Amino acid sequence: MSVEPSQGAQPAIENLMDERRVFPPAAEFTANANAQSSIYDEAERDYVAFWERIARDRVSWDTPFETTLEWDLPFAKWFTGGRLNITYNCVDRHVEAGLGSKVAYHWIGEPGDTRTITYADLQREVSKAANALLEVGVTTGDRVAIYMPMIPELPIAMLACARIGAPHTVVFGGFSAEALAGRINDCGARVLITADGGWRRGNRVNLKHHADEAVASTPTIQKVIVVDRLGQGAHMVPRRDVWWHDIVDRQSEHCPPVPVDSEHMLYLLYTSGTTAKPKGILHTTAGYLVGTSFTHEAIFDLKPDDVYWCAADIGWVTGHSYIVYGPLANAATGVIYEGAPDTPTWDRWWQIIEEFKVSILYCAPTAIRAFMKHGPQFPAAHDLSSLRVLGSVGEPINPEAWLWYHEHIGRGTAPIVDTWWQTETGMILITPLPGVTTTKPGSATFPFPGIEADIVDGDGQSVPFGGGGYLVLKRPWPAMLRGIYGDPERYRETYWSRFPGMYFAGDGAKRDEEGYFWLLGRVDDVMNVAGHRISTTEVESALVDHRSVAESAVVGVKDEVSGQAIYAFVILKTGQDPADALAVQLREHVAYVIGPIARPKYLMFVPDLPKTRSGKIMRRLLRDIAEGRTLGDTTTLADATVVETIRENTGKAEE
Ligand code: WT7
Repeated sequence: MSVEPSQGAQPAIENLMDERRVFPPAAEFTANANAQSSIYDEAERDYVAFWERIARDRVSWDTPFETTLEWDLPFAKWFTGGRLNITYNCVDRHVEAGLGSKVAYHWIGEPGDTRTITYADLQREVSKAANALLEVGVTTGDRVAIYMPMIPELPIAMLACARIGAPHTVVFGGFSAEALAGRINDCGARVLITADGGWRRGNRVNLKHHADEAVASTPTIQKVIVVDRLGQGAHMVPRRDVWWHDIVDRQSEHCPPVPVDSEHMLYLLYTSGTTAKPKGILHTTAGYLVGTSFTHEAIFDLKPDDVYWCAADIGWVTGHSYIVYGPLANAATGVIYEGAPDTPTWDRWWQIIEEFKVSILYCAPTAIRAFMKHGPQFPAAHDLSSLRVLGSVGEPINPEAWLWYHEHIGRGTAPIVDTWWQTETGMILITPLPGVTTTKPGSATFPFPGIEADIVDGDGQSVPFGGGGYLVLKRPWPAMLRGIYGDPERYRETYWSRFPGMYFAGDGAKRDEEGYFWLLGRVDDVMNVAGHRISTTEVESALVDHRSVAESAVVGVKDEVSGQAIYAFVILKTGQDPADALAVQLREHVAYVIGPIARPKYLMFVPDLPKTRSGKIMRRLLRDIAEGRTLGDTTTLADATVVETIRENTGKAEE
């Protein structure tokens, strides 16, 4: 398809890519699906009544709520007047219902050690850990920081906090001492729960010394509780530090869950703003429980016998919502894996899926593209026939990656749910419903029932089908953030000021002629080539569409003629030759797939791309490199050597 010069007003973002493959749900899947298409109609009739029904059906209340929604834009309160404890909902009620011996988590350590945690185990361990927190003086409302590897004590610690109404703030175990200290100081946490360390790619990663360094500058921390993961001892500061096994193991197995108000703070999760000070995204109790549990059951089609694996780190919102709270509220059996997908070899995940008969897998496009790069022989060596639903989250999934996932992991049958949401939204908001939605590779399809999403132009006017613009949300939803900790003005300014009355997520998107939503990446990354606003996602997907390409990132660099020119960084599949001729071919391929306006002016082959620790490509750094600037903030980078390797090669880009 070619690009015509635009008529009249300039679109906020061009719609260049035209994906026509469709995948209707299989009749057998539809017949047994949890989700029914009727919930779209029910929610549209009255979205407040819809969420009210769900909240009454799903939540075990200590005191039922009186009012479903109080909406004082941009401040929402859901299910007011109600009181509940989220750990009662996630653990105790399942034990009471006879599910005590059901497995809550199959845990797999990177070195191969395993633990099985049933719901009865979880009830006992959470109660003991909660009693330990009470012993060290934590009371309802006190903040507790958690800095841990992916071990069972991590969800146990989160639930122990929630059991006594102490909001937690989990800081991803890969973050630095400085990042940890900044977050502790922002929320004034009194206690830190950490570990001596964990395993990553065959190495022992020490956490305790980062924790010590952090706590040296956090005056509010009075106690540090340390889990022994590595069994090699750790430096313990007298009176301040205590081993988890010393304080938790001797506690009573009974700790009554403390009922809290529906709007009681459940947790803070800091988003690593790339430039500004991290924002403490504030989530509360009842609405979050309603939103995460209902979406989890409907979108992943969770059945009692499923083995569900969300491969994210619990330190991200994906882990909070879809490893801990949503799945546990639904009495799911989950898998938690401590380590890396390539350790010891690139088939580690497929081995785990085969061994534990995983039936639902939820992961990020960055992982799928890495598997694609190394080739289908790794999954092909394992029996993946237990898989029946696949999910994707974190970035737009390129159509070719979607098709690879479908074919090589889902064996051409498992539906794929591409789920769009954010730390701020708490729950999935744009997604297919398996068994209901006809999917298109690369599209997150439609807003979840009860959610009103729209795509608007720079003036906040809805863009007709076929056009691109800014993704906005026009109604409150139960798991939405309630604010930024300690800074209501920043909350209003960041999310609600660009388009009055609407939540602006910061993402570009388009809708096709049938109303399907296609996410186009962060609007800060949109390129402006000769007046055309081109999304990075579409050019990247056109590159990944070529059989030699595993992954790519494109950025706009200053250009005398066109304002900006497209600079593409490309990772080839294993075994492909990074020849000049291929670079020429790839640039032509983009021109052929989406039009000459999108043909990259420069193209460079790279072994790797700079990514955040949650796997998102950091295009800002690539822009710095491409324009020869000194690098901006690299503290959130997963592997700092990547940018140096790329920089050394920039002179060699093909033009
Ligand atoms: C940003 C939020 C939501 C949990 C993990 C990330 C991007 C997320 C998708 C998707 C296209 C996606 C957006 C969003 N994103 N899911 N399915 N398709 N883009 O949480 O770190 O708060 O990031 O991730 O840009 O704004 P987060």
